[in-house]
Amino acid sequence: MPLFDNQPISVLAPMQDVTDADFMSVIAECGAPDFFIAEYFRVHEFSTLEKNVLRTVLSRPNEIAVSAQFIGEDEFHIARSINLLKKYPQIEYLDLNIGCPAPKVYRKNVGGGLLKEPKKIRSILNVMRENWDKSLSVKMRLGFESQDHLEEIIGILNESGINFATIHGRTVKQLYRGKVDYGAIKKAASLCNVPIIANGDLTTAKKALQVAEFTGAKGVMIGRHAIRNPWIFRQIKELKHGEKMFEPTLLDVYEYVEKIRNKIIMKNPQIRYADGRMKKFLNFIALGVDEGGNFLREMRHARGIDALMECCKKHLLENPSKPFAPEPYPNLCPRPNHEL
Ligand SMILES: Cc1cc2nc3c(=O)[nH]c(=O)nc-3n(C[C@H](O)[C@H](O)[C@H](O)COP(=O)(O)O)c2cc1C
Repeated sequence: MPLFDNQPISVLAPMQDVTDADFMSVIAECGAPDFFIAEYFRVHEFSTLEKNVLRTVLSRPNEIAVSAQFIGEDEFHIARSINLLKKYPQIEYLDLNIGCPAPKVYRKNVGGGLLKEPKKIRSILNVMRENWDKSLSVKMRLGFESQDHLEEIIGILNESGINFATIHGRTVKQLYRGKVDYGAIKKAASLCNVPIIANGDLTTAKKALQVAEFTGAKGVMIGRHAIRNPWIFRQIKELKHGEKMFEPTLLDVYEYVEKIRNKIIMKNPQIRYADGRMKKFLNFIALGVDEGGNFLREMRHARGIDALMECCKKHLLENPSKPFAPEPYPNLCPRPNHEL
């Protein structure tokens, strides 16, 4: 089925160390999105296709397509990596990351750093289009420091032959601070001759559909809020079809945490710092558990998977029928440095 048949489509965001084959299959069990984009393959002089990312791209949870994503700036090595990708004819989608805001990334002029050089984006996309005849897309922010180059960049996208673009409505320098500018996504969607997927702070199914309507976007992409609420894609479908929307309780959340433990964390026995990885998920889940942040605080101090699960039992099973908050509590913060 062509990707944009059933608009607005829902997409799980690529998230490094999160959006892998195991997490995608847990998400699919809770109610699958229409499309996945895997975390990026780094492309540079010595790069190959990283095994774990390749496993993600080749997996098809619930038969749903998974896009590969590249982050890089060297046209020769991007073309070389496309040739590596072509060895897997089942891969049908390729995305270019021009939005990553991590300073250690953008300082190398890759990811969000490319937004400072619109001409470089043109040159990379030309090479990608020449070498890849399947679906090609970009995932970008509104600009590097300001939105001053947004129209120029949309013009480049219009000439590049890409198939769609995802826009996170913040600049790179904003990291995850400040309000997402949905008005700017709307403007970009009106100027762009391919479908736009809106991204950024789509905290609930209702908000996601309202933003799609307001911006004219043909799809919505959800990242952190799908870690917190893995049922969000199911809820979007239910709302779209005028059905009663699933409302998870703390018991549902506990069962989700058990899936994370069993199907993601413990599945890989070599994984070091398993509790650190588990906390990556719990940091977001905690935002809907209690307004006082008691679960968030205690969970951060727990050491080892068993202690973490005990903490989850204490906070999630004490009152299992309590509704899980539909919005994150605004006073709680998953990552104090706002980088991720
Ligand atoms: C932990 C984490 C890792 C991310 N890794 C990637 C990535 O590999 N590629 C990418 O394009 N964006 C990446 N992003 C950005 C997300 O795809 C998304 O644009 C961003 O989180 C905003 O959407 P949200 O408000 O729904 O989370 C990452 C975000 C987070 C939180």
